Amino acid sequence: MAQIHPVTLRWGIISTGGIASAFSKDLLVDPKTRNVNDIVHKIAAVGSRSVDKAQEFINHSLAGDKSIKAYGTYAEVYNDADVDVVYVATPHTYHYENSLDAIKAKKHVLCEKPVTSNRAELQSLLDAAKEAGVFFMEAMWTRFQPLSLEFKKLSDGGELGLPISVHADLSGNFRIYDIPKTHRILDPQLGGGALLDLGPYPLVWAIMALYENPANNATYPSITGSILKTPLTGVDCNTSFTLNFSQSNLLAAQAVLSCSINTDGLDPGVTVRYEKGSIRISAPIYCPKSFVVRYLDGRGVVVREEKRFFEYVGRGMHFQADEVARCIRDGLRESRLWGHEKSLLEMHIFDEVRKQGGYELPSGVEKVH
Ligand SMILES: NC(=O)c1ccc[n+]([C@@H]2O[C@H](COP(=O)([O-])OP(=O)(O)OC[C@H]3O[C@@H](n4cnc5c(N)ncnc54)[C@H](OP(=O)(O)O)[C@@H]3O)[C@@H](O)[C@H]2O)c1
Repeated sequence: MAQIHPVTLRWGIISTGGIASAFSKDLLVDPKTRNVNDIVHKIAAVGSRSVDKAQEFINHSLAGDKSIKAYGTYAEVYNDADVDVVYVATPHTYHYENSLDAIKAKKHVLCEKPVTSNRAELQSLLDAAKEAGVFFMEAMWTRFQPLSLEFKKLSDGGELGLPISVHADLSGNFRIYDIPKTHRILDPQLGGGALLDLGPYPLVWAIMALYENPANNATYPSITGSILKTPLTGVDCNTSFTLNFSQSNLLAAQAVLSCSINTDGLDPGVTVRYEKGSIRISAPIYCPKSFVVRYLDGRGVVVREEKRFFEYVGRGMHFQADEVARCIRDGLRESRLWGHEKSLLEMHIFDEVRKQGGYELPSGVEKVH
């Protein structure tokens, strides 16, 4: 049997916040624990606005690995010849400028969700990435998890018939009356609120189940959005949006999606109903570990029920990292599973929901309109 020579991808981590730590720890998980033998991840550098914070991050999150460089500016990471790909994990409203700087330095980029503040910023980034000839992907980690891949097989496979509806919610009780108004979830300067922070997750399930369904023929949905703002800072506190996928003539299906920052999420967090059954996905919907599939007979009676469990070592953010490594190895500029058009659709939907709900970011926050 031919020996596989794994490809090593060298990462530069931008910022030292909560999710940068979670992602970096997942990069340290041995890929063989998830049957990945063709990829090795190496963290080459960490950039922070403070070099002490960068070093502290390496000490606490990365076992003090002395081979990892600590930088007190993000620019030093972009310009480090030992970095192949930059992971951007700053607050939403910095994603555009951080990713653009990395792209200009000819680095590949994996950028946290929501990929930008609006669609125009994303389009500008994609144009820049194309010109620089680099890979760019939004860190939509849910799309790459084993459960999602199995869900897709069932959802598109035909045994359940066509999808009819998706209900999905992601909420979290951020104790908004107890946290400072400068917290990124409350601060409009940082794109605070439920939609941009939590909205990507109910949406990703609608995209997987409906937008990606072959019968939809990649047709955009019509959008209705409703926003309830918190008087604390005016960011959206409770947001719901519906997507009607009915323009392709082959599919007539509706997604009913919601997110809140002042209450806990629902469980199951996602329910997809089909002509001949349903799939109920357990919370948390960003990395669910189980789902229940129900098959119905012609009279709507449940004839079979299956519960499926998915376990792995780590938090589950490494599956997207493997995708990035393979795409870069293969010379691709975007992911096959979470390509640019899906992030563009996401930002198009969020722009429209914010417009209908009357949530405008403060002047100057959005860098491109
Ligand atoms: N994929 C997921 O499951 C997931 C989960 C949570 C969050 N996220 C996304 O990841 C991003 C970061 O979220 P987080 O929870 O990690 O946030 P966080 O803990 O507040 O960390 C953000 C980091 O960004 C840097 N930063 C740069 N400019 C900043 C500014 N003006 N204000 C505050 N911080 C600034 C800071 O690092 P330095 O001081 O070191 O520069 C800070 O530690 C958000 O866009 C969020 O949507 C994704």
